[in-house]
Amino acid sequence: MALQRRLVVGVLTVISLLCVYILCVNLEVPLSWSLTPLKHDYTAGASNVSRDSEEPLDSATRPPSALHFHIEHQVLHEHTHATQTLKTQTSKVSKQKVENNVLDVSKSSSDGLDKTWISTKGPTPKPQRITQAARTTEPSYIGDTYMSEDVPPQTDCPDGIQSRVTQTEFGERFLKNIPVLQWAKHVTPEQHQRLSRYPGAHGWGGVDYETLVETLSVLNSSANWQMFDDWKDRSSKSECIRCAVVGNGGILNNSKKGEEIDGHHYVFRTNGAVIKGFEKDVGSRTTHYTFSTNTMVNSMRSYAGAGYRGPPQSKETRYIFLPDHDRDYLLMKAAVTHTRVERGSEQKKDPSKYFGEDLSIEKFKMYHPDFIRYLRNRFLRSPSLKKFRNIYRPTTGAVMLLAALHTCSKVSAYGFMTPDYKSYSDHYFDIKHHPVAFFANHDMRMELTLWQRLHQAGLIQLYMHK
Ligand SMILES: *[C@@H]1O[C@H](CO)[C@@H](O)[C@H](O)[C@H]1NC(C)=O
Ligand SMILES: *[C@@H]1O[C@H](CO)[C@@H](O)[C@H](O)[C@H]1NC(C)=O
Ligand SMILES: *[C@@H]1O[C@H](CO)[C@@H](O)[C@H](O)[C@H]1NC(C)=O
Repeated sequence: MALQRRLVVGVLTVISLLCVYILCVNLEVPLSWSLTPLKHDYTAGASNVSRDSEEPLDSATRPPSALHFHIEHQVLHEHTHATQTLKTQTSKVSKQKVENNVLDVSKSSSDGLDKTWISTKGPTPKPQRITQAARTTEPSYIGDTYMSEDVPPQTDCPDGIQSRVTQTEFGERFLKNIPVLQWAKHVTPEQHQRLSRYPGAHGWGGVDYETLVETLSVLNSSANWQMFDDWKDRSSKSECIRCAVVGNGGILNNSKKGEEIDGHHYVFRTNGAVIKGFEKDVGSRTTHYTFSTNTMVNSMRSYAGAGYRGPPQSKETRYIFLPDHDRDYLLMKAAVTHTRVERGSEQKKDPSKYFGEDLSIEKFKMYHPDFIRYLRNRFLRSPSLKKFRNIYRPTTGAVMLLAALHTCSKVSAYGFMTPDYKSYSDHYFDIKHHPVAFFANHDMRMELTLWQRLHQAGLIQLYMHK
């Protein structure tokens, strides 16, 4: 009897200890949030994840459910870039030289910092060095040091974004030599060591070296490192590359902007960009389609009802992966080697299911993780980053627009969030009105503010329906 009672007491104690533990774990996030003031249009709900529009989450990376949280912005995080001195010995290498010579990437191992430099192989190799003043206040996961690449601009546009940005509030944080795309030359053991510190879209953490090598080494054509690989064929004497960047926002419903959008040299789209039936408002061309494997697959599931069948396909369409998982490297590898996906969520899938029959290497590009980390750190450093360090990233649409800002001479943005977003449905293709939903892995409020400031600075022309 006594033994039995002791057993029961023991079991009860264990159970209550477990309960306390579970309570503590669950309370951790809400408790810390309760310290910040609440504001009600910021809601993140796991129940809404499945219909998340722009950015469906992996089930594994869902934020805690039913949390109301507030993001205290001071518009753009005014981050002390002044403390960082980028001393760049600019190496003046002529356009032709760089085009003909492969970039050589190497890393200094003399200290623990990310000191990287690049030199161009060829007659006049001048190393370009980046050094960084020690930054005492930043946690190491930020990693605000990047590779620098001397890729020549594709045009000599006299009043393009890259020449005007220095006179704006964005001049200081804007890196003209940031690699926007990653390709064969970037995959070295040194770069792997440097980038594997950062997980998700911000580095190579969690992707094994062999997969990286097998994928990136195939990306060795100039189209893999040039955003506008067919520019020579289409420039028709224009010195400036004009891009239309089309988000999926409800503001495009009835906009009649289709013809204007298609009139640009290049047209960027992302995720569930439904075109059929919406040509009058959003145009019909797509030259650059930005996606991650996860957002593409989720878009195909979530927007099938609106008519979304997969990425747009046309002769001029290029596919730009935003890799945030090894799924992306595996699908890319399958696409460019004309094989089926070897493992993971897309195992045995035929890439032509997504990209059509023409799987030539020139059709594929991949954002460099340094570029994504740079965008996060310098343009969209949200307070959410602290709480959701492993899942927070700029939205796919934001990466697309900021990539255009770093590569086009002129950018017109359509279908991006505006201060009056409550007047519109979440997407232009919604069958019935849906309010915009906010999620913990992005900070769309901060993005909205960034678009306003870029517009005010004259760096983009944002469609605002007025
Ligand atoms: C580019 O990749 C292809 C396919 O992997 C390979 O056959 C070719 O030799 C590579 N070219 C260069 C310059 O590395
Ligand atoms: C698009 O605009 C039409 C006409 O203004 C309106 O009836 C419709 O509800 C809108 N669609 C959405 C999804 O808001
Ligand atoms: C999803 O969010 C919308 C508002 O954005 C809300 O009206 C709807 O009830 C939510 N759905 C679920 C299942 O919670």
